[in-house]
Amino acid sequence: TSILILNGPNLNLLGTRQPDVYGTTTLADIEAMCRTRAKALSVDLAFQQDNSEGALIDAIHAARGTHHGIILNAGAYTHTSIALMDALSSVEIPAIELHLSNIHSREAFRHQSYISRVAIGIICGFGAQGYELALDAMVGHLERAS
Ligand code: DQA
Repeated sequence: TSILILNGPNLNLLGTRQPDVYGTTTLADIEAMCRTRAKALSVDLAFQQDNSEGALIDAIHAARGTHHGIILNAGAYTHTSIALMDALSSVEIPAIELHLSNIHSREAFRHQSYISRVAIGIICGFGAQGYELALDAMVGHLERAS
C-alpha cells in the first residue's frame, strides 16, 4: 500500500508562515512525523509540495497506478480550484482533504471547498497532528475497502 501526501502553495513556508495560525512545525518536521507514522502502519509514503496548480494536477495524475490513497492539503487552491477537484474525480483514488487550521472558523472565503465535494473525508483544525490523523484514516479506509 502506498499513500501520497500532497501539499499545495505556501506550505513550504510552514514554521515561519503565520505561526499563530499554522504553528511553528516546519514541513520537513511534518514529513518526518509522517514517515515515522507510515512505517508504524506498514505503508509506503510519498510526500510532495508544489506551489503551482498544474504541478499538483500532474502529481494527482501520476498517482494513478502508483498510490492507493491521496492526502491533499491544497492550501488556498482548496477554495478556488475546479481543476484540482476535476483531477481528483478523474483518477479513481480515494482522497482525504486536510488543513492545519479549522477553515470553518476563519474567513468566509475559506468555508467553501471544491475538494470537499470529491474527498472521502476532511480533517482540519488539528495542526501538524492532522497529518498523522489523515494517515490513520486513510489506512483504515483502504483496509475496509480491500
Ligand atoms: C490551509 C488553509 C487554507 O485556507 C490556506 O489558504 C492555506 C492553508 C491549512 O492547512 O490550514 O494555505 O490549507
